[in-house]
Amino acid sequence: MIETTATFDNLEWMPEPNRKPFPAAPAAAKVLGPAPVFAITSGKGGVGKTNVTANLAAALALKNRRVMVIDADLGLANLDLLLGVRPTYTLADFFAGAAPLDEIIVTNRHGILLLPGASGVQEMTSLSSDQKAALLTELDAITHELDIALVDTGSGISDAVTYFTAAAQEIVVVVTPEPASMTDAYALVKVLALAHRQKRFWILANSVSGEAEARRLFDALSRTALCFLNVALDYLGWIPRDPRLVRAVARSRMVVEDAGDAPSAQAFVAVAERLMQTAAGGVAVKGNLQFFLRRMVAGERGGR
Ligand SMILES: Nc1ncnc2c1ncn2[C@@H]1O[C@H](COP(=O)(O)OP(=O)(O)O)[C@@H](O)[C@H]1O
Ligand SMILES: [Mg+2]
Repeated sequence: MIETTATFDNLEWMPEPNRKPFPAAPAAAKVLGPAPVFAITSGKGGVGKTNVTANLAAALALKNRRVMVIDADLGLANLDLLLGVRPTYTLADFFAGAAPLDEIIVTNRHGILLLPGASGVQEMTSLSSDQKAALLTELDAITHELDIALVDTGSGISDAVTYFTAAAQEIVVVVTPEPASMTDAYALVKVLALAHRQKRFWILANSVSGEAEARRLFDALSRTALCFLNVALDYLGWIPRDPRLVRAVARSRMVVEDAGDAPSAQAFVAVAERLMQTAAGGVAVKGNLQFFLRRMVAGERGGR
């Protein structure tokens, strides 16, 4: 049963309760009502978004949470490699009438669902209203039993990235100690705050030497954002620079499954826990997965 909140009062579209059962879902204790959506984004490429998305998903799945990841960065489709799945279709095939949604979404060995997105915003926003309605109906049937969804958005301030990011309820900006990662993260926050009216950003420090460095990154970024954008950033946590993560990637695996005792794997588990707490504490007032998909498909922008 989908819970409704005051946030949805202004939506004509409402999910119908009691749709057909979630396909091939692992048995799990449902901890939340509507599934929250976290966009995993960054200013600069190569900072670890795909690893963060896949490993957080795996950490959550290992705790019996039902997770869907949405690959909105098909240009560099490596999320499927890490998850160990080979999708045949993308959302573009659904729109072309070539495949039903349940054939587009693939399930990995941990029960994580992967939805390969369309490669451009154009494909999403140029849909007819019939296509949009069909997509939303099918997505609703599949997603209403999920606990959480993570979107690997791609990096930078292109339309495709800001479009997917602004449609999510929670934005996680991945930064590393590289100066370019910091300046590009600031540029992204600036665009999302000014052009897309986003107000809440979680900062995840990746590839750091330890908590002290993570805190330094966060402090520098949050001071600047507060001073120049009047935006207060939130600290989500940190993942250490870890050769065992690199080794796992070389084997097309997630470090969480490949080396559960590795420092980065343990950090992912801790951050995953924090995500669920964050979600439980705040998502009701800001929407859910259906809301996200509706915005994504309809081309509606954030504003929370
Ligand atoms: N915590 C980490 N420790 C060591 N190397 C990392 C870490 N995170 C990412 N990397 C390295 O960065 C590479 C790119 O990561 P990826 O997740 O594909 O980035 P993005 O999706 O942001 O482009 C990985 O293949 C790995 O070699
Ligand atoms: Mg990537």
